[in-house]
Amino acid sequence: MPGTVVVGAQWGDEGKGKITDLLAEKADVVARFQGGNNAGHTIVRDGEEFKLHLIPSGILYEAKTCVIGNGVVIDPHILFGELEALRARGIGGDNLRISGNAHLIMPYHLLLDGANEQQLGKFKIGTTGRGIGPCYVDKYTRIGIRVQDLLDEKILRRKIKTALQEKYFLLQRYDIGVLDPDQVADELLSFRERMEPFICDASLLVNTALDQGKHVLFEGVQGALLDIDFGTYPFVTSSNPISGAACTGIGVGPTRIDHVIGVAKTYTTRVGEGPFPTELFDETGVAMCEVGQEFGTTTGRQRRCGWLDLVALRYAVRLSGVTHLALTKLDVLSGLPTLKACTRYKAGRKVLDEFPLRQTDFHHAKPIYEELPGWTEDIRECEAWQDLPQAARDYVQYIAEFTKTRVKFIAVGPGRDETIVLPRSIGRGGAL
Ligand code: IMP
Repeated sequence: MPGTVVVGAQWGDEGKGKITDLLAEKADVVARFQGGNNAGHTIVRDGEEFKLHLIPSGILYEAKTCVIGNGVVIDPHILFGELEALRARGIGGDNLRISGNAHLIMPYHLLLDGANEQQLGKFKIGTTGRGIGPCYVDKYTRIGIRVQDLLDEKILRRKIKTALQEKYFLLQRYDIGVLDPDQVADELLSFRERMEPFICDASLLVNTALDQGKHVLFEGVQGALLDIDFGTYPFVTSSNPISGAACTGIGVGPTRIDHVIGVAKTYTTRVGEGPFPTELFDETGVAMCEVGQEFGTTTGRQRRCGWLDLVALRYAVRLSGVTHLALTKLDVLSGLPTLKACTRYKAGRKVLDEFPLRQTDFHHAKPIYEELPGWTEDIRECEAWQDLPQAARDYVQYIAEFTKTRVKFIAVGPGRDETIVLPRSIGRGGAL
């Protein structure tokens, strides 16, 4: 540590929850910096399963401070729903702090998310329908409602009126009808008392912690290929799930980041629409889905599955300056006679070595594969690098070499203990 960022290096759902949970053990502060409850983390702890969408996974450790940064968009219903569910299981949540600058997801954002998708018809993005995009739109149009607005009722009511004025035509056009600004404000104000104790200056809190030599874990959600700037636009989310966003989404400088952990599955999945060159439509894809239990934590949608796309992974490593990789779900590949890893694309007559700049090229990209031998052994009991079958080690080594990065974690099962932590990273040496 002391400043470590965890990000997804694919299209989200890489198993970041589990890796974050492992790293959180050593952190004093866990801070989320982007996205909203479009994310979903499943953490298995002592056989107990926790599903979190908004609250950072560090909440399970009561001694740590858990921060929701300004870059996150917050649906208060979800926030307090999660807190209540945690409290019902004996987890207090008093260690949570929320940036006063974070934006709130309003009821009209949810309505507009659905309406936008309907309007796009066959060009729809396949959003999670949680109002994420419309909330970020308001943020950048500068008519968003922020957490701190809850502290000033008069201003809040005025801001909601302004925001709704602009939406009036859209909501009518989509036959949604008109929302009463006072009703919207009343509903939001019902959260004020509960929200107030959590509100903080997250930038000050996190920088002070770093100044004191404490360890801060910056928790990203989604993944690089869903990045609004660098992902497979327009089939992306509305924030930047890359490491740089940890700075703007909390309020720290880049000099405060020491390590970047990129989390990637040992194959690829994606939910929602959009291009996916290594997608499988055969029985191998079905097996990956079944064995890997590839259903979304947030929407329950079945994830599309395919071989590992190393070109895309190397791109994600570059975008986030990944220092260490955490490879997950290696156990899901057990029993496959041969593994394929995409090392280049073919788009028309062109052979592409790098992730293409032009979206049309990526839409037409066909994978060029390297084949590697599989293994038959069940690897869920493996506790160390040496316990893995040679073919599994070769596969991991191949990933490290192709992406020119170090592998620090290998997950061989969903449980917290089913993770191999490599004492010396595989790939270009160096300690974490
Ligand atoms: P939105 O973030 O709800 O606007 O959805 C935009 C795109 O990002 C859709 O394709 C979603 O399926 C995808 N997406 C958003 N959050 C996640 C996530 O946590 N995991 C995987 N895909 C996600």
